[in-house]
Amino acid sequence: MTGDILKYLREKEYVSGEVLAQKLGISRVAVWKQIQRLKNIGYEIIADQNLGYCLISRPDLLIPQEVQRGLSTKYIGKEIYYIPELKSTNIIAKEKALHRAEGINEGTLIIAERQSAGKGRLGREWFSPAGGIWLSIILYPKLPPSYIPRITLMTAVAVVKAIKMCTQIEPQIKWPNDILINEKKVCGILTEMSAELDIINWVVVGIGINVNIDHQKFPEDIQANTISLKEVSGKEVLRVKLAQSFLRVFEKYYDKLKRKEFSSILEEWKLYSHTLGRKIRVDMGERIITGEAVDINEEGALVLKKEDDELVKIISGTIV
Ligand code: BTN
Repeated sequence: MTGDILKYLREKEYVSGEVLAQKLGISRVAVWKQIQRLKNIGYEIIADQNLGYCLISRPDLLIPQEVQRGLSTKYIGKEIYYIPELKSTNIIAKEKALHRAEGINEGTLIIAERQSAGKGRLGREWFSPAGGIWLSIILYPKLPPSYIPRITLMTAVAVVKAIKMCTQIEPQIKWPNDILINEKKVCGILTEMSAELDIINWVVVGIGINVNIDHQKFPEDIQANTISLKEVSGKEVLRVKLAQSFLRVFEKYYDKLKRKEFSSILEEWKLYSHTLGRKIRVDMGERIITGEAVDINEEGALVLKKEDDELVKIISGTIV
C-alpha cells in the first residue's frame, strides 16, 4: 500500500488526499495513516491544506520499493524480504531456500539494515550495524557442487565492479572472498549451500559491505584491518544505488557462470587480485602451506608454488 502511494507521489509534485484515496480505493484517513508510516521510516512528505501531499526526499533505506525502483534485473531481487533488524540474513535465507516448492524463487533476497548475529566465515562474527549493506541471495543453480568456489569468486568480481561504478574506488580481491581497499577489508562474502553428490539443492550467497560506517564504530579488535566506503570516499555513499548496481552485475555474471563461461569472469578476477604474485601462508584447517600464489585455475582453486617448486591446488582455505 505504501508502495502505491509512493508511486503517485513520485508522478506529480502535489497529490491531494482525496485523489490518493480514490486511486487506491481507501478512505482519506487510511491515506493519512499510510503517509505517517512513510514519514516514520524516513520519507520527507509535506502536506498543504489546499494542494495535498508532496514528496520532498527519500531515505537511503534498502526497502524493496527503493531497491526495486528502476532495477533492470530479470530475476535477482524480484522478490525481497526486507527485515530491518534480524540475526543474520543468511540464516533467514537458508530457511527460505528450503521452501522452493512454496514459491521461493531463484534470486529472492533477504535484506537487513542491521544484523544482531551477522555470520562471517569459519564461524566468526560479522559486525553489522546500520549503514552497511547486509544481504543474502537465494540461488538454485543447475550446476555440480564443484562450482561453489566459482560462485564466490564471481560474487567478488560483481562487488568490485559495483563499488567501482558507484565510487570510482577500485578495491582488490583477496582469495577467496575478501574485498580490500588499502589492504583493509571493506566487504566479505559467505557462501553456504546444500548439495548432493552431483547436484546443488540451494546456495545462499551472503554479502556484507561496510558502506557508511564511521571507523571508530568498528570493534577495536577489527579496527586496524577494516575500512568503510564512507571513510575512503570522504562522504556517504548511496546504499540503494550501490545495492542496485551490485544486483545488476551479479545477475549478468551469474548468468555467464550458468552458461559455463567462467573464463572471462576469472580474467577479471585476476585483474583485481590482491593475492596473485605474493608469498602467502594458507591455513587449510589441518595444516598451513607457504608459497607463492601463482594462479587461480578454472575451478576457482588457488595454485600455490611451494619453496621446492611443487604446485599445490587449494580449493578452500584462509590466507593468514
Ligand atoms: C567473511 O568475510 O567472513 C564473510 C562475511 C559475510 C557477511 C555477510 S553480511 C550478510 C550475510 N549475512 C550474514 O550473517 N553474513 C553475510
